[in-house]
Amino acid sequence: MKEVNLSLVGYGIVGHGVVEVLTRKKKMLQEMGLGIKLISVTDHTGTITSEAGIDETRILPEKTLANVANSSMKGKEAIGAIDSDLVIEVTPTNIVHGQPGLGHMEAALSGGKHVVTSNKGPLVVAYNRLKKLAEDNGVNFKFEATVGGTMPLISLVERTLIGNTVYCIRGIFNGTCNYILTRMAEENIPYVHALSEAQDMGIAETDPSYDVEGVDTAGKVVILANALFDMNIRYSDVDVTGITGVSPEALGLAKMRGYSVKLIGDVPALTVRPTLVPIGSPISVAGTLNSAAIYTDLSGTITVTGLGAGSIETASAILSDIISIYRTKQINAVS
Ligand SMILES: NC(=O)c1ccc[n+]([C@@H]2O[C@H](COP(=O)([O-])OP(=O)(O)OC[C@H]3O[C@@H](n4cnc5c(N)ncnc54)[C@H](OP(=O)(O)O)[C@@H]3O)[C@@H](O)[C@H]2O)c1
Repeated sequence: MKEVNLSLVGYGIVGHGVVEVLTRKKKMLQEMGLGIKLISVTDHTGTITSEAGIDETRILPEKTLANVANSSMKGKEAIGAIDSDLVIEVTPTNIVHGQPGLGHMEAALSGGKHVVTSNKGPLVVAYNRLKKLAEDNGVNFKFEATVGGTMPLISLVERTLIGNTVYCIRGIFNGTCNYILTRMAEENIPYVHALSEAQDMGIAETDPSYDVEGVDTAGKVVILANALFDMNIRYSDVDVTGITGVSPEALGLAKMRGYSVKLIGDVPALTVRPTLVPIGSPISVAGTLNSAAIYTDLSGTITVTGLGAGSIETASAILSDIISIYRTKQINAVS
């Protein structure tokens, strides 16, 4: 049995999902030979830590750690002090300076700990630096959940499609925009009405600009470009147009001609813009779904679709990254 001590930093929607998924899958992981032990959880309010492993039933009902923390240690301090093998970083995203996640990831990687994350910001700001830090310290840096949530895109390209040349990845990487465009087209309603419906349903934030202006999608384009196309680009290299200028009339005209309008991110074109997509094309998915078409030399075009967000769904991508770290040697060995 390979014993693995985990630290979780960030205990919001995704953090709770991670704890729940680890609890649900404990037996399956043990059968796989992985003894995963969650030895610390940190949020804004402090840290709960236990060398014997945290009792999930104590923390799952708690929204924050305020009532259960047994230490006042915060992010970097906790990462440095707690003897874990792997840090799951799920704090809020900031794509301008990457903090607090960037500092957490640097502390973990430079301390010889693997990092698994759903937090885009640090990768948008400093992907190549973080990758090098991981390599220099002989640890893994995994981030499947940063693009397309549960949709297996990064591992699909890195592992399953290995040997192919990937020419291009084009897709829908923001469920909020996709929901708004879908509702506008279905009901012939203006953008503001569809946005307000999405806000009422909790699909869009009170300040939706990060999603609807294409910022979130552009961040994902940066991650895909740097991680899968060996580029070294920044957010400012992406040409971004959001969906706020899309009218119901434009959607109606497109529909008459057999097209839907989707917010499409494109790598390596480095564009994010509302784009005509043939209705019936595999990437023309509705509602909050995400999709990606991967254009390759040997396999033709592969399309994946899936939920781009959600507590358990995002935790599922995190779990697969955790497992892949410890199965890497067996699967990847070429001798
Ligand atoms: N939600 C999704 O479906 C989804 C999907 C894909 C990717 N993501 C990404 O995953 C990350 C987490 O998302 P989320 O929805 O779980 O966010 P969230 O609900 O806002 O949770 C963020 C957590 O981080 C904590 N935190 C904030 N600053 C911290 C600090 N300095 N040190 C330690 N903890 C700190 C927060 O604590 P307090 O509550 O005490 O402030 C909270 O527990 C984000 O980067 C997001 O973009 C989310």
